[in-house]
Amino acid sequence: MKKQFAALILALLPGLAFAAGSGYPLDKVDIDFTDKVAMQDGARTFANYCMGCHSAKFQRYERVADDIGIPHELMLENLVFTGAKIGDHMKIGMQPEDAKAWFGAAPPDLTLVARVRGTDWLYTYLRTFYEDPTRPLGANNKVFPNVGMPNVLVGLQGRQVIGCKQVQVVEDGKKQYDPLTGAPITHEACDQLTVVPETGKLSEAEFDEKIHNLVTFLAYSANPVKLESQRIGTYVLLYLAFFFVFAYLLKREYWKDVH
Ligand code: HEC
Repeated sequence: MKKQFAALILALLPGLAFAAGSGYPLDKVDIDFTDKVAMQDGARTFANYCMGCHSAKFQRYERVADDIGIPHELMLENLVFTGAKIGDHMKIGMQPEDAKAWFGAAPPDLTLVARVRGTDWLYTYLRTFYEDPTRPLGANNKVFPNVGMPNVLVGLQGRQVIGCKQVQVVEDGKKQYDPLTGAPITHEACDQLTVVPETGKLSEAEFDEKIHNLVTFLAYSANPVKLESQRIGTYVLLYLAFFFVFAYLLKREYWKDVH
């Protein structure tokens, strides 16, 4: 029992460590495990923008293609840049030692990152890179301060800087509106992330959607059997409900003679 308790504490530790992270409030993201279109778009972004540095080596291209509905030829043509075959694991060529020298930290494998960090964390992390000339690669991050990863999505999002902007006043968790005009009450707040207009390919809403899709893909990757387990779970519950009736009838039958 003691051992189990110790194991439980150990299992919870990483969570505690992350919870103590930067304290930056995380934006919520809804993940739909049936949204294959989102997963396909996310897979494309992952292959194009992340696999230069990160592998997803516990996953095979073939399994991903089949699960999220991408024909094998399309997958090979558009999403595989390493000359890998369809049955190969999603590995990359970059060596961890080189990466460490370049970025100060090796880019971790991302197959399971959605389980380790959680989807809200990922969604916020990928949208909160900002310019910071004091960092070796010129970028910093709000939820992962002094991160080694460069801001690889700057071309899509645009240059994000820390500046002042008007934000809506919130009191007791409620957004405040002018009682007369109904307009939001705002005040100027500094230390806010702002995107320099016209510096990225996507609008803010489009970029959020891109990241939402990317995180949906990562969530799938960390739990490819999710759909399957939901389906099986339903059957298990139905089975239990069904046999409860018989167990109850049987019990009544046995106890009839006892009373
Ligand atoms: C140029 C190389 C490079 C590219 C491209 C890159 N990353 Fe990274 N990434 C890194 C490095 C290096 C780290 C480790 C940072 C550290 O520990 O300080 C990292 C860390 C991360 C982490 C944090 C992992 C953890 O739990 O600590 C996540 C999540 C992540 N990257 C996601 C992505 C995604 C998604 C993309 C594609 C949009 C991407 N990265 C593209 C280099 C890269």
